[in-house]
Amino acid sequence: MPSPREVLQTFTAVIITGGSSGLGKSFIELLVKLNPALRFCNLSRTKPDIKVPELKLRHFPCDLSQPQEIERAAGEIEAHLDAASPTGRLLLINNSGFGSYGRFPEPALPHQLEMLDVNVRAVVHLTGLLLPRLKARGGAIVNIASTAAFQPTAYMATYGASKTFLLHWSLALNEELRGSDLRTLAVCPGPTATQFFRRAGLTQGSVADALSMPCETVVRMSLRALASGRSQVVTGWKNRVSALAGSLVPKPLAARVAAWVLARYRLKQVQR
Ligand SMILES: NC(=O)c1ccc[n+]([C@@H]2O[C@H](COP(=O)([O-])OP(=O)(O)OC[C@H]3O[C@@H](n4cnc5c(N)ncnc54)[C@H](OP(=O)(O)O)[C@@H]3O)[C@@H](O)[C@H]2O)c1
Repeated sequence: MPSPREVLQTFTAVIITGGSSGLGKSFIELLVKLNPALRFCNLSRTKPDIKVPELKLRHFPCDLSQPQEIERAAGEIEAHLDAASPTGRLLLINNSGFGSYGRFPEPALPHQLEMLDVNVRAVVHLTGLLLPRLKARGGAIVNIASTAAFQPTAYMATYGASKTFLLHWSLALNEELRGSDLRTLAVCPGPTATQFFRRAGLTQGSVADALSMPCETVVRMSLRALASGRSQVVTGWKNRVSALAGSLVPKPLAARVAAWVLARYRLKQVQR
């Protein structure tokens, strides 16, 4: 089996969403270590602050909840690749996403709809726009789903369902791409030490923090899965056990257990 370093030498450019923070930033930092020749195109609202001298990164400011901004950024990225990196395999990492903790529709219905726009609609939109080029050049599409994808997640109902969509969509797309030089990988992290839980409305020191894995560990596991040609990876054995349980038991029971677990997070919830 080739190593992640060996596989990454076959890629020339990476298009990533959400490189400004957490897992996205960690992907960029590790990828540039493994192949310093890679060119990066980042889409997020904030410019990534990464101090690596050899990093060749172009930031495309983009609010992924806005379809017209995705259209514009995709066009600019294609023009940039034509000029700066016209050949070689491409890696698209659909990473941007956010969650929210509370009873639906807390904190507000527009926030829930924006979550669907970023976690679901933007992934389909951006991938659809870039697919002809990805197919022509070959490579991979990495979709950052979650262990929340494996069972209904009360108090994070919209978030969990958005990640179920992403996981199933990614796996189905991978089957459609069989026989081509393009494939997909769905990454399903459990709690990871990023801004995610704070942005979702939970304080530091919550249950999630106690269970969190470091970003770099999640990214290393994702790249190993990419190198070994897998279509899905759940990062870490505890997360694999919970994903397996969530998949095997009847959905109403899985929903009940997850609601019990997630209700405990509420103890530490930020006052809004
Ligand atoms: N941390 C966890 O426990 C965990 C577990 C499972 C799955 N995940 C998934 O991992 C992915 C990365 O999250 P993270 O944990 O690294 O959290 P994070 O530190 O909060 O990073 C989220 C990223 O998403 C970007 N983003 C959010 N809204 C956006 C928008 N409207 N337009 C463009 N970009 C947007 C942010 O960029 P800007 O703010 O600069 O726009 C940021 O770079 C998400 O899809 C999340 O669902 C996280």
